[in-house]
Amino acid sequence: MTIFITGGAGFIGSNFVHSWFENNNEKIINLDLLTYAGNLSNLDFFKQDSRHIFIQGNIADKEIVSKVFTKFNPRAIINFAAESHVDRSIDSPEDFINTNIYGTFNLLNCTKEFLKKTNQLNKKDFRFLHVSTDEVFGSLKKTELPFTEDNNFLPNSPYSASKASSDHLVRSFNKTYDIPTIITHCSNNYGPYQFPEKLIPLVINNALKHKSLPLYGDGLNIRDWLYVKDHCSALIRVLNNGRIGETYNIGGNNEKTNREIIYIICDMLDEIRPINSKSSLSSYKNLIKYVKDRPGHDRRYAINSDKLMNELDWKPNETFLTGIKKTIDWYLSNQKWINNIEEGSYKEWISKQYCN
Ligand code: NAD
Ligand code: TYD
Repeated sequence: MTIFITGGAGFIGSNFVHSWFENNNEKIINLDLLTYAGNLSNLDFFKQDSRHIFIQGNIADKEIVSKVFTKFNPRAIINFAAESHVDRSIDSPEDFINTNIYGTFNLLNCTKEFLKKTNQLNKKDFRFLHVSTDEVFGSLKKTELPFTEDNNFLPNSPYSASKASSDHLVRSFNKTYDIPTIITHCSNNYGPYQFPEKLIPLVINNALKHKSLPLYGDGLNIRDWLYVKDHCSALIRVLNNGRIGETYNIGGNNEKTNREIIYIICDMLDEIRPINSKSSLSSYKNLIKYVKDRPGHDRRYAINSDKLMNELDWKPNETFLTGIKKTIDWYLSNQKWINNIEEGSYKEWISKQYCN
C-alpha cells in the first residue's frame, strides 16, 4: 500500500515523513515543488530508503498529479503543500491563490478522475486529508471561547483566505462528488525543520547571532502552540480513524502572547548558551525590538480540540516547555541547516523585513 503526500519537503510535511516511518513501512510518494520553503535536506535520512519516493512538481500541474495517481495507486492523499507565511501573503498574494486554491482544486479534480477509473480500490476506503489551519476562523477577542469546528470562517489575511477557499473546495468535492475527504484545522506549530521566517525559529536563530528579535505591535497577540510531532500524530489518527466529510480541530492548549514566547526562549538560551560576559548584552532579552505591526494582524487564536480528543482518543505528548526545549536543542545542533538556508533566496526576503 502507498500514500501520496504533497509538500513533504516543508516543515510539517518532512516531520510527518519522519513520524510515519517510525511505526510504519507503508510507502510514501512525496510531491513537492521545492519552493523557497521546501528543503530536501530535511529528508536526508531517507535518501537510500525505498519506502520514500520524492518527485519534484507542482500540485497545480494536472499531468504530474494524474501520473502519480495512475503510477502508484495510492490509498490516500495528504495535502500539506501550501504557501504558508502570512507576511509573504501580504507582500505578494498571487502564489497563495495559485497554490493554495488552484493547486488544491487540481488535487481534488485528479482524485475524482482517479477514483472514477480505479478498480483496485473501494472508493470509500480512499481518503483525501486536507491539512488546514485555525487561521481560517479569524481572530478571537480576549474573552471569547476557543474555536470549535462549528465556528464561521472569517479569514483576515490573504493566506488564511486562500486556505479557507481551499477548505470550501474540499468540502464541496465531498458533498457534490462523494470524494472521501477530511479537513483538519491546526494551531501554530513549532519544532525541527521550521523555516526561519516564522516566529520561533527566527527568534532562536537571531538570538544566537545576536541580531534583534522583532516583536510586532505591542507583542501581546496570542497564538496557541503545538509541537509539530503532536500535529503529525493527530494527522495519523485522523487518517486512520477520522470520519469522512468531517473536520477536526488540532491544538496544544498552549495559548501564549508573542512576548511570552520570546521571553521563554531568551530565558532558556540564557541558561543553556549564556552570553559571553565580555558582551554588552546581559541577556538575550536585550535584543528584543518592538517593530511596526503586521497589517490585519489577528489578535488571538485559541482552539478547542475536544472532538479529536474524545472521538479519536488523541492527546499531545509535549507541553510547551518540553517542546520548546527540544526545539531549541535541535536548532543548536543544526546551525548548519539554518546557515545553508540563509545563504539562499531567504537572504533577500529577510533584508526587506523590519528586523534589519
Ligand atoms: P512550509 O511552507 O514549511 O512548507 C510548504 C511545502 O509545500 C514546501 O516544501 C514547498 O516547497 C511546498 N509547496 C509550495 N507550493 C507548492 C506547489 N505548488 N506544489 C507542490 N509543493 C509546493 O509549510 P508548513 O508550515 O509545513 O505547512 C504545511 C501545511 O500545514 C500548510 O498547508 C499550512 O497551511 C498548514 N498549517 C501550518 C501550520 C504552521 O504553524 N506551520 C499550522 C496549521 C496548518
Ligand atoms: P508567524 O510565526 O508568522 O505565524 P502566524 O502569523 O501564522 O501566526 O507569527 C506568529 C506570531 O508572531 C504572529 O502574531 C506574528 C508574530 N511575529 C512577530 O512578532 N515577530 C516576527 O518576527 C514574526 C515572524 C512574527
